[in-house]
Amino acid sequence: MSSDVAMALRGRSVLCIRPRHVGPALAGSVVGALVEADLRHVADIASALSTYARLGGVPTIFVADPSTARVLGDDARLAGCPVLVRPLAPGAIEAALGTLPDAVERPLAGGVSAAILALTDAFADVSAGRPIAVAPFAPASRVFVSALKVAADADETLASFVADIERHHSPTLRHSLSVAMNAALFGLHLGLGRGELALVVEAALLHDIGKAIVPLEVLDKPGRLDAEELVAVRAHPSEGERLLRNASHPVAPEILRVVRHHHEYLDGSGYPDGLKADGIPDMVRLMTVVDIFTALVEDRPYKTPMPQAQAVAILRSMTHDGKLDPAIVSRFVEMIEERG
Ligand SMILES: [Fe+2]
Ligand SMILES: [Fe+2]
Repeated sequence: MSSDVAMALRGRSVLCIRPRHVGPALAGSVVGALVEADLRHVADIASALSTYARLGGVPTIFVADPSTARVLGDDARLAGCPVLVRPLAPGAIEAALGTLPDAVERPLAGGVSAAILALTDAFADVSAGRPIAVAPFAPASRVFVSALKVAADADETLASFVADIERHHSPTLRHSLSVAMNAALFGLHLGLGRGELALVVEAALLHDIGKAIVPLEVLDKPGRLDAEELVAVRAHPSEGERLLRNASHPVAPEILRVVRHHHEYLDGSGYPDGLKADGIPDMVRLMTVVDIFTALVEDRPYKTPMPQAQAVAILRSMTHDGKLDPAIVSRFVEMIEERG
């Protein structure tokens, strides 16, 4: 523990522990946690959030260096918890204790914020012509899954997860986060393990990354696209794959396939490669169904959200036409109907 933190905590009963030793047993035996973390980079934030998730909802205060402000801004909060910036003012910890959010909100907000930061940085990398920093996506996806597992058990908490997503201003980011949420809920419904769920979430977060090079006025255009605009939009799967092949770190082949092929249909009528059923892996089929449904029911600048029943009818008719996997659609519809 740093000396300033030790000073601030003087007189309290304190257990000092390394983040990797934090586990559920500890969470039950402490009244609060103070996490010293380097929060300058998205990967650091994701790992601080993962410590926080393992604390299981214990009221937490983060302590970070002043350079943290670059990422989180002044008066920052992480997962809804206060972030105190060094040097600690006298009484800062006492004051922060008074602003801790209630238990329900915290793990949920954390789950979405790591993914939002990773996506925001990835889009910024593309606009600046830098290789995409993909390293933060894996930890961000694990945090997302942990938070969603908590949220999925209660409608009310799931609604707050959705609200965290909808607060984001960019429609493409909101869409990617919503696809990640629906894919994770579907994965939970199918009984996938934590590792598979995290991979599905990572693929979902990145599936439309190629849209980072499509001009916003085309992406958000109300009404029909002309031929040239259509070509630009339809390039996003192959451009996304290209961007990820040139990313800062290697990207899992399952994820690259989702990115390139999520607009393919089993009958060969999709793009970019017109793959047919045998060429389309299960994870891609799953993402295609989740992506179509999510796009139909979400709010976009050029359309109002479609009622779920109507979106389900469209999935069914596309399945009837031989485009979507009937087994996947039927399990997905089952989940939608169970959840209402
Ligand atoms: Fe797409
Ligand atoms: Fe999409």
